[in-house]
Amino acid sequence: MLDKHFDRHRRLRSSATMRDLVRETVLHKEDLIYPIFVKEENTPKSEVTSMPGVYQYPLHELESEVKELLDLGIKAVILFGLPDDKDDVGSGAYHQHGIVQEATRVIKKLAPEMLVIADTCLCEFTDHGHCGVIKEGSVLNDESLELLKKTAVSQAEAGADIIAPSNMMDGFVKVIREGLDEAGFYDIPIMSYAVKYASAFYGPFREAANSAPQFGDRKTYQMDPANRLEALREAASDEKEGADFLIVKPSLSYMDIIRDVRNQTNLPVVAYNVSGEYAMVKAASANGWIDEKRIVLEMLTSMKRAGVSLIITYFAKDVATYLREDA
Ligand code: PBG
Repeated sequence: MLDKHFDRHRRLRSSATMRDLVRETVLHKEDLIYPIFVKEENTPKSEVTSMPGVYQYPLHELESEVKELLDLGIKAVILFGLPDDKDDVGSGAYHQHGIVQEATRVIKKLAPEMLVIADTCLCEFTDHGHCGVIKEGSVLNDESLELLKKTAVSQAEAGADIIAPSNMMDGFVKVIREGLDEAGFYDIPIMSYAVKYASAFYGPFREAANSAPQFGDRKTYQMDPANRLEALREAASDEKEGADFLIVKPSLSYMDIIRDVRNQTNLPVVAYNVSGEYAMVKAASANGWIDEKRIVLEMLTSMKRAGVSLIITYFAKDVATYLREDA
């Protein structure tokens, strides 16, 4: 008899059934939130060049999209709007008949069971492309909050189930919570983009949402990618101000932040698997350089392992299809 003194880790990897038995993290279609870009312009749906498989939809083409999502078992979407007209105060964001408000009404009418999350920001609606109002070249914090509050309330009035503010102004959760409560929407949760970095990974989104800043950058309100403690301060503020979910964004380069936030809070943490992360995989896959299905499942499983409960991802439909294939 051999006398060996080491651990036999391979025992628990010996067969597919054994591995299934000890798997610690499992991805479910219920974990996925699918982003949808809706345009006011009444032209056929158009594909975003840098995001193959992602489209900008006119209102009347939402029906087939929603049906496809429900068939796949995806029951949560987050909406981004492309208005026909922009101005310096982002009026389209809080107009009663703004594109996000109208798309919300259309989806909730077609499919009341579909959870509609409204992204609450001004950058898609301002002619300068910043997430707040501008004075002498800088983005004003408190003045922007009033407009964001109006935006959130109008989205809730249109039927949004969750408000997701992504603007990174200080105090946005507090002010939006107050606005929703005053309007009687105390049951509508806030999914806060609590930790949002000034990231190059948003490049393709800015093409999709036509929201690139026309001057400067977003570094005075979005976070420095070098900072970790600051992320915990941002997450703590949003929790104290009343957030119901905390988003970390982007996700792949920020797995340490996801884990830190997970360890600090008992709220559900959400990863935003952003446009640049999607585009890189699609490009490599189109070249035949990677196995797209395995890469995507590995990336998203890793986000869950890092500590998130939910993932906002352009891969949602692909993943739901993969999970069905593998079931
Ligand atoms: C709006 C917003 C952005 C994204 C989500 N909401 C862009 C930005 O802040 O520049 C990016 C999402 C993605 O890249 O997929 N502020």
